[in-house]
Amino acid sequence: MTVSEWLKKAEDYLDGRKVPEAKASAEFLMAEMLGVGRLTAVTQGTRELTVKETHQYWDWIKWRGKRFPIAYILGHQPFLGIRISVTRDSLVPRPETEELVIECERLVKLSKVEAPKILEIGTGTGCIAIALAQLVPSATVFATDLSNSALELAQKNAIAHHVGNRIRFVREDLFSEKQGLRGWADLMVSNPPYIPTKELDGLEPEVLKEPRMALDGGKDGLDAIRAITAMAPKLLKPGGILAMEIGATQGPAVTKLFAAAGLRDVVVKKDASGLERFAIGALPD
Ligand SMILES: C[S@@+](CC[C@H](N)C(=O)[O-])C[C@H]1O[C@@H](n2cnc3c(N)ncnc32)[C@H](O)[C@@H]1O
Repeated sequence: MTVSEWLKKAEDYLDGRKVPEAKASAEFLMAEMLGVGRLTAVTQGTRELTVKETHQYWDWIKWRGKRFPIAYILGHQPFLGIRISVTRDSLVPRPETEELVIECERLVKLSKVEAPKILEIGTGTGCIAIALAQLVPSATVFATDLSNSALELAQKNAIAHHVGNRIRFVREDLFSEKQGLRGWADLMVSNPPYIPTKELDGLEPEVLKEPRMALDGGKDGLDAIRAITAMAPKLLKPGGILAMEIGATQGPAVTKLFAAAGLRDVVVKKDASGLERFAIGALPD
């Protein structure tokens, strides 16, 4: 069978399993399998797939039919131009998190701190810590997570992207006191779990394949945000910045939490889709 016949077969199969954007998934996986861009894959319509290629392609299509995210099927996800390895132990890095990183880079550079110290809470794949280490070459990064397997993955990603020697990955519960890092950070950044527990079961099947620990923000979704915000004044240097990704409706509540923690210049910023997704504040000098 040719590429275009397999594409049609895959699209019909995925459609039948109610996979959103079935055609795009079929084409994307074909392109990955052939090692070419999506447009090139589609224009190679008359090329016959080899037996090996057929097995690989159909294996991936079956996983997609089970509503596995493409990043879990391929084992990687692009993040700010680098390839981040992902496993089911970690959240799949999202495009809005790329925006959080760019905002952090801007804030750190604006602060003119010469060798900034960055603390990331809940590092998962390590995407935020790694991208920031690359974007701010003078920075030292300390990144925590409660999941050992996520930390192992993050460490591997950091080494693969040549910043392993600038990031220290440590297993730590964000609900514990981090006495050792008192007054250490110029920037504290986190994309914490922030989905209210009762909303979890209604999420898309793809999201439900991700670790619950990476998603569950407790009763009102604010448990981790509350703990990180309360901790920030102890861990930040005077003038240090707290930047967090939040749920689209959490802006007003998080603004109050930031103010209650004594942070100033608190702003909630919108992402590229116009949703209020980033809360930022600074510890007074
Ligand atoms: C939303 S994910 C973010 C992952 C990654 N930083 C990103 O942006 O793609 C939240 C992360 O927080 C971690 N986490 C959840 N509860 C935690 C806790 N109590 N202490 C430390 N980390 C925790 C999860 O394991 C997960 O890696």
